[in-house]
Amino acid sequence: MAELLKVENLNVSFMSYAGEVKAVRNVSFHVNEKETLALVGESGCGKTVTSKSIMRLLGRTTAVIKEGSKIEFNGEDIVKMDKKRLAEIRGNDIAMIFQDSMTSLNPTMTVGKQIVENILNHNDIPKAQAMDRALELLKLVEIPNPEERLKVYPHQMSGGMRQRVMIAIALANNPKLLIADEPTTALDVTIQAQLMDLLGTLKERLGMSVILVTHDLGIVSDFADRVQVMYAGQVVERGTTDEIFNNPRHPYTWALLRSIPGLALEQKSKLYSLKGTPPDLLLTLSQCPFAARCDYCMPICTKQKPDETVLSDTHSTACWLLHPNAPKIDPPIGIGGQHNE
Ligand SMILES: Nc1ncnc2c1ncn2[C@@H]1O[C@H](COP(=O)(O)OP(=O)(O)OP(=O)(O)O)[C@@H](O)[C@H]1O
Ligand code: SF4
Ligand SMILES: [Mg+2]
Repeated sequence: MAELLKVENLNVSFMSYAGEVKAVRNVSFHVNEKETLALVGESGCGKTVTSKSIMRLLGRTTAVIKEGSKIEFNGEDIVKMDKKRLAEIRGNDIAMIFQDSMTSLNPTMTVGKQIVENILNHNDIPKAQAMDRALELLKLVEIPNPEERLKVYPHQMSGGMRQRVMIAIALANNPKLLIADEPTTALDVTIQAQLMDLLGTLKERLGMSVILVTHDLGIVSDFADRVQVMYAGQVVERGTTDEIFNNPRHPYTWALLRSIPGLALEQKSKLYSLKGTPPDLLLTLSQCPFAARCDYCMPICTKQKPDETVLSDTHSTACWLLHPNAPKIDPPIGIGGQHNE
């Protein structure tokens, strides 16, 4: 499969009064054509900053994509792109859906007008044609009575329907890459499942690549091809969905898996809640970022950062437990199909 996006050594910082918040640290990954990659990790781990960097949507006054970072999309480096080319790519080749449709949609404009405006911003076509396309898009995202819905204001729709409108707007110009940042978090579980089903169908139908950003590993198992687990601005484990669910090797991934309600129920184990907080992002860490919260922390973990250990072509993890001299630790009961060798 051809590579569509390649991120290399991405470092993003915010310049705050307190100092430099190093929000994304040396993150590298790729997304192939028609593939879905899930970015997973708890609040503040850098998922949104990574995603927004891909579209260069971070405010330039405080956020800095550091020297040496590379974001190649179809062979072009987004970090070095001029404003004109960036505007062409945004909303055309790469589109993004945000979590909160209530703040993302304009409350003073009808849904139809917002979709039409978005189409006209990117295409030199007559308004009537844009209106036909808006209707087609509402049908595509399976909104009932689409002709009527074009005339209503966002507050007259349910959260689920508004989020479908956001998806319609994102898909208006047939993007090659869709970044969905917590697209269902604000919704109840039934609506969440319906929207994930819809996204799955659309991804197949339109042949898009998707980056799904979520703090909830539970929703990625049916949807993603690969998963990248982030912690404190760094990638701690990456693998195919099967590798992450059936042979996770990083204690943080174990903690995430144990905190999925459905999985805990299935395994008849107690729902796990990770104690403590991630490290202060103002600090430059020379140790494992997870050391302070890790049940398996060893003396080396607090002295030196572990390198990524490659476990397969697709699976790697940054943890000292993978070192040949480390004690053999089995994942907690109910996690993964295999044990550490
Ligand atoms: N404008 C900003 N100024 C200073 N720090 C920021 C700013 N925006 C984000 N950060 C910091 O960058 C880190 C990463 O934030 P990010 O929004 O990417 O987290 P996230 O993984 O998307 O979390 P969530 O699941 O809550 O959406 C956070 O610790 C946050 O405090
Ligand atoms: S390197 Fe050490 S502290 Fe970090 S996750 Fe592995 S065992 Fe835990
Ligand atoms: Mg976020």
